[in-house]
Amino acid sequence: MLKGKHIILGITGSIAAYKSAVLCRLLVSAGAEVKVVMTPLAKQFITPLTMATLSKNPILVDFFNPENGEWNSHVSLGEWADCYLIAPATANTMAKMASGVADNLLLTTYLSARCKVAIAPAMDLDMYRHASTQRNMTQLRADGVHIIEPQSGELASGLVGKGRMAEPQDIVREVEAMFDEKKKSLQGKHFLVTAGATIEPIDPVRFISNHSSGKMGYAVAEALAQRGAKVSLVSGRTALGVPVGVERIDVLSAEQMYEACCRLWAEVDGAIMCAAVADYTPAVVADQKIKKGEDDMSIALKRTHDIAATLGENKGSRLLVGFAMETENEMANAESKLQRKNMDFIVLNSLRQEGAGFRGDTNVVSLIDSESRVDLPLMSKREVADRIVDKMESVLVEKN
Ligand code: C5P
Repeated sequence: MLKGKHIILGITGSIAAYKSAVLCRLLVSAGAEVKVVMTPLAKQFITPLTMATLSKNPILVDFFNPENGEWNSHVSLGEWADCYLIAPATANTMAKMASGVADNLLLTTYLSARCKVAIAPAMDLDMYRHASTQRNMTQLRADGVHIIEPQSGELASGLVGKGRMAEPQDIVREVEAMFDEKKKSLQGKHFLVTAGATIEPIDPVRFISNHSSGKMGYAVAEALAQRGAKVSLVSGRTALGVPVGVERIDVLSAEQMYEACCRLWAEVDGAIMCAAVADYTPAVVADQKIKKGEDDMSIALKRTHDIAATLGENKGSRLLVGFAMETENEMANAESKLQRKNMDFIVLNSLRQEGAGFRGDTNVVSLIDSESRVDLPLMSKREVADRIVDKMESVLVEKN
């Protein structure tokens, strides 16, 4: 896949730069031609000599060679490359990329690059989850940069959490996937994905909601978009950025989600219902903030529409996939939902399993259709999303 491909490997000043040596070697062994650009600080973490030897090309750090004035043209570098991979990418470099700062060769090359760009962030967990870093990542995604997710684990600071640069072999796999046009297997298809929690207002300041983070649904939307599908993501409340190539329709209540989904149902080839939709909503929404009194109070609730069931009633040849999150009688409940809502398959996630459920980045699920059940091991939500999309593809083949 990488044979003959021109790759610029950008290295920034992170302790994870020691892994860039292995990464460079793997890229070269896969047949790529690699040129390395380093920020001035990166030289403190790994020597240019090491990188020059492994990449078989001189290292580029400065705008020009101070000895002879020879210009290191970021423009021609940007034109030469098929892919610009920045690994490790520090919070500092990501912030500069997000706002177009161009104060070193690595950054001017980014602004000149017309090729695919991927970054592998590496930093301490607090830096990674800081609102500004997350905001910059959202911006970079929107700018078309592919982000190779950092891993959770022990960090150089001694803390444990998310922020460790992905392993070199995983980075190479993601770069290969970026070049793999065969993966555009869902080109021409359009899917509706629901995600996140709905918000049911009680009065102007209070609401009923749930713990859904939206991560699973967003991962499914991203997986579908990466395979070339058009994706309409009807999203309740989440703190997540919109994945590249996905159109997001923001809603709050179950009623708004219902209306958006019914509208889209006529246009799509299928829907994946990942949202945690409220089953009940206050019968009356107070115009003013409800005042506390001496007595206890109760709120009358009415049923919301079951969106998945409504789509299932008028399914035609479309594909319908649902989720079941159960705390008891998991299999029986999941199977009954599968039939009641006329779904092609259902993804069961049990709250009883370690590493499964609401807010985390991992999940443990079973894929259940009318004939079979496949139990998947603990994996990242993004990997689960790929397995769900694999199954969707095989159901689509059966349907045709
Ligand atoms: O019946 P239950 O809510 O457990 O079913 C879960 C599945 O149905 C999920 O796929 C969820 O997104 C979907 N659902 C829906 N509308 C509702 C409730 C659930 O689309 N009102």
